[in-house]
Amino acid sequence: MKKDKSPVIIYGGSFDPPHKGHLALAAAALRQFRPSVIYFVPGFKTPFKDLYPVPFRDRSAMLRAALAEAGLSGRKEIKISSFEAGLKRVVYTWETVAHFRRLHPGAPLFFLMGSDCLAGFRNWRRSGWILKKAGLLAGLRPGYSLKAAPGVPFIALAGRFPRAASSAIRAELFLGEKPAQVGRGALEQAGKRSLYLSRERALLKGLVTPARFSHSVETARLALLLAPGLGLPPQQAALAALLHDCARDLPLSSMARLARGPREALLGETAVKAPVLLHAWAGAALARARFGVTDPGVLEAVALHATGAPGMGALARLVYLCDLACFGRGFPEAGEVRRLAFKDFSAAFRAANYVKLVYAFSGDSWVHPLSVSLWNSLQETKRG
Ligand SMILES: [Fe+2]
Ligand SMILES: [Fe+2]
Repeated sequence: MKKDKSPVIIYGGSFDPPHKGHLALAAAALRQFRPSVIYFVPGFKTPFKDLYPVPFRDRSAMLRAALAEAGLSGRKEIKISSFEAGLKRVVYTWETVAHFRRLHPGAPLFFLMGSDCLAGFRNWRRSGWILKKAGLLAGLRPGYSLKAAPGVPFIALAGRFPRAASSAIRAELFLGEKPAQVGRGALEQAGKRSLYLSRERALLKGLVTPARFSHSVETARLALLLAPGLGLPPQQAALAALLHDCARDLPLSSMARLARGPREALLGETAVKAPVLLHAWAGAALARARFGVTDPGVLEAVALHATGAPGMGALARLVYLCDLACFGRGFPEAGEVRRLAFKDFSAAFRAANYVKLVYAFSGDSWVHPLSVSLWNSLQETKRG
């Protein structure tokens, strides 16, 4: 029997979302290697890393749309494989290579990747074994030096490929923007399937004024920039920041009805002395009831964004700071706190609490006991 000697190419990745960088790489591999098949293998998305991991079926739908837009759909040599996603766990590349090796025992097998992945290749599990079973195909991305992966044999695809960082693309999507690296087809699928917080943004638009909506997006923009430095998942930071003022434009009577919290006694006092602050606790209730949020970190961040409280968690601290210091705030301290946050988040958080208290005191009004307790707790932390 004559063996088919056309190559088989495996293209693994999260494809979350599929972008023009992926397609350019696949198109070049198709042109230069004329494989019998190229398998796109979207990996399993772990719920531990992503708040709402985009399911395989949704990533596949975006991928199909992106392939169609690039004129690559309907070609028999293009397949989307559910091998990794179907195992419902993190799958190592050597396992994927072993799977396709079994499927195509005689064919030359290649694993396709961007050059940025090559630098870390030696740290992959069983990297030596992978090299015995498959060749590596890499597209060189701008700024990449071939010296970055010494001793890793690979074949470079001809051409240069756009740099496209999925995390930066996702950040734009969370804010409702249209990243240039994502095609219209994939964007349409993302909207249709309520991905990347599009459902949450649509719901929020129906609850708040346009100005409040912009402020919420700006709060999320800053939260997304600061989250990685604090070890917080970007999607969680974006969601909490987007929703923090979701109850702010409700009538006071609705806020009072919705507001619930562990500090019920304080809510009564708040309702009398500064009822508008109830929007924070009401917001947490609304986030749960209307938006279906169950993540306690997100609910805490919404509930405490206006007053703060001693012992608040990292996400709540982030949203508290971003609400005060986001782009578009009209007071000079916002920019100062924002700049400081990128250098020393704890110092910036203390400064945010200080700025809020100074404004409250200068307004000659009642200051919420939780804000004062937060101030005192931060002084203790500083001394300790
Ligand atoms: Fe607020
Ligand atoms: Fe706000």
